Amino acid sequence: MSTMNAVETLTRRLLIDGGITTGMRVLDVGCGYGDVTRMVAELVGDAGQVIGVDHDERALETARMRAAEQGFSNVAFAPGDMVPSMPIDGLFDAVVGRRVLMYQGNPIDAIDRLLQVLRPGGRIVFQEHDSTLGPNSSLPLHQQVHGWIWETVAKEGGNINLGFNLHSVLTQGGAKVEQVRAEAIVQTPTQSHPIAFIVRAMMPRLIEHGVATDAEIEIETLELRLNEERQKANATFIWDMAFGVWGSKP
Ligand SMILES: C[S@@+](CC[C@H](N)C(=O)[O-])C[C@H]1O[C@@H](n2cnc3c(N)ncnc32)[C@H](O)[C@@H]1O
Repeated sequence: MSTMNAVETLTRRLLIDGGITTGMRVLDVGCGYGDVTRMVAELVGDAGQVIGVDHDERALETARMRAAEQGFSNVAFAPGDMVPSMPIDGLFDAVVGRRVLMYQGNPIDAIDRLLQVLRPGGRIVFQEHDSTLGPNSSLPLHQQVHGWIWETVAKEGGNINLGFNLHSVLTQGGAKVEQVRAEAIVQTPTQSHPIAFIVRAMMPRLIEHGVATDAEIEIETLELRLNEERQKANATFIWDMAFGVWGSKP
């Protein structure tokens, strides 16, 4: 299994353990290109329905296109700030989101607003991140690249330490937390993560925020240098620490 799949597997397991199941009507908040929306659509099946919400209309266009290409008929996408901006018919059985609370100035208020569209007893499941753990001093290039990415996310307004606060945010927002988990995406000397791909995609943002220069990134050789560094040190690196939380509306 590739590590890219490992991230998706982690999300899927979280959704299942958090109680997303057949027949549910689910809201996917901050759906972006709809990767989580489509995953939820598979879990709820034809008897269920998923609405993906995002305030980025262009992301929604891509999300619609991908869902249509893959033949999903139980998925819809709507613009909105956390909740759909158009009136919705009835309450949701579950609200889910991945890497979205970290972008809210007031995530407690966001949870409070989401609970208003969730039925009593409805499920709430979020996957967020925390960069507190990760660095391994025997891998300086890995540390540097890890730093570039998280510094860029922070400069764009992301809370890069939300994982450890998830319990408190959901509880203060009015949800009943049932479980918090943290899982690491690790790289071993032989197991790599598509870091160069991620850095390449983020490169204009890294440069725009003054986090790193073209010459420092040296994108064409980055993957090779990272793999060599881990192999030489025979070391393991925590690339990403994914926190999951699930609970319900009291
Ligand atoms: C890091 S992306 C994650 C996308 C998707 N959840 C995933 O994991 O693939 C964060 C997304 O949340 C959206 N977003 C952030 N704040 C939002 C808000 N208040 N209301 C709606 N969407 C929001 C952004 O536009 C972006 O598409």
